[in-house]
Amino acid sequence: MKVLVVGGGGREHALVWKIAQSPRVEEVLCAPGNGGISRIARCIAIAANDLEGLVRLAQDEKIDLTVVGPEMPLCMGIVDLFQKEKLRIFGPSKGAAQIEGSKAFAKDLMQKYGIPAAQYRVFTKRDEAVAYIKKQGAPIVVKADGLAAGKGVIVAETEEEGIAALDDIMVKRVFGEAGERAVIEERLVGEEASFIAFSDGEHVLPLASSQDHKPVYDGDNGPNTGGMGAYSPAPVVTPEVHDRIMREIMIPTVKALAAEGYLYCGVLYAGLMIKEGIPKALEFNCRLGDPETQPIVMRMKGDLVPVMEACIEGGLADREIGWDPRTAVCVVMASEGYPGSYEKGKTIKGLEKVEKMEGAYCFHAGTKVENGNYLTAGGRVLGVTGLGKGIKEAMDVTYRAVAEITWDGAHFRTDIGKKALA
Ligand code: AMP
Ligand code: GLY
Repeated sequence: MKVLVVGGGGREHALVWKIAQSPRVEEVLCAPGNGGISRIARCIAIAANDLEGLVRLAQDEKIDLTVVGPEMPLCMGIVDLFQKEKLRIFGPSKGAAQIEGSKAFAKDLMQKYGIPAAQYRVFTKRDEAVAYIKKQGAPIVVKADGLAAGKGVIVAETEEEGIAALDDIMVKRVFGEAGERAVIEERLVGEEASFIAFSDGEHVLPLASSQDHKPVYDGDNGPNTGGMGAYSPAPVVTPEVHDRIMREIMIPTVKALAAEGYLYCGVLYAGLMIKEGIPKALEFNCRLGDPETQPIVMRMKGDLVPVMEACIEGGLADREIGWDPRTAVCVVMASEGYPGSYEKGKTIKGLEKVEKMEGAYCFHAGTKVENGNYLTAGGRVLGVTGLGKGIKEAMDVTYRAVAEITWDGAHFRTDIGKKALA
């Protein structure tokens, strides 16, 4: 069959890499893709949010299955549009994707169905929100309701900081329409983990656990990014915690969505805070994580395609996913200045050395190929991923690979995996 992957980041490179290994797949196309993806799939220059363009591509190329990486096209309704055209697509409908597209929707759903999460309130008026921040006091968390590329959450240490964040969101509208409403919630403490699962609307099939690293600098310092690295499994998700997450968060959320009329088919990702073995949901995403997908697929055994098909057609209950017992670590290498402004077009060197390394793979994010050279083309550039027996060995393999790669201004965290060591 012919598969189209929508997106062009590290997550999509990992998806393409895995899907291309399926014995059932003859060809993989990717829109728009990136430099690394172009070596294993046919890249088509159509943006991930050009829904009409993607429909035409799927029709012209007679695509059998479309897999959507990023949240934006899902929240815009790509799945509904494809289904209307009788095209097979993997992902939640626009209604179901609200679980990520609106934090107020997600919070109200969790409250209504008793899913453990932080106390909160939703505001449409700035002054009422300010009064609430003053009443609750700091620390406090201020969130833009809509999509904000992972930047719409501010964990404020003081009331002033919280009010400034609220003004950015609701008055200055730095995230545009996403700031029409704001969610203000209690700050939770503990250790974070990402719990990602497949769902056919009824059953939930979990992937291996993982942990992301959002702040840009070592020791979780500096501003938040899309994610500077991840590892899998996450030791904080013990078998007991795993059961609890399934029982108290994942299954109830899929059931709650179904009860509200949204059959959830696709990937459901819960961002969790875990304290003393008790998980609470910080947020949901309607897609795979980036960079969590990179270490997760490195460990995934067997064929991913039938699992995605079972989410669309039902029958997920009979599916299983096997996991490589080794640990995988992914270190994101980024452009100088990221997550702020950065230059593009720097020549990347050393990739061929990593290709020869056992147990390591370099997933591309913001890269392109020009005259046979790989050039930087985004903020997050590469996700260097390595496997090892245990976290220490996986970190060694990965950081040895990272050391081979250079470009002018490249930066990365040197402590991805350290938390799992402890
Ligand atoms: P989100 O985009 O909702 O995952 O939020 C981004 C990050 O903000 C999370 O990964 C957490 O580090 C932090 N965060 C979000 N909500 C809370 C909360 N209620 N308490 C503490 N930290 C939070
Ligand atoms: N790595 C965080 C996310 O994909 O949202």
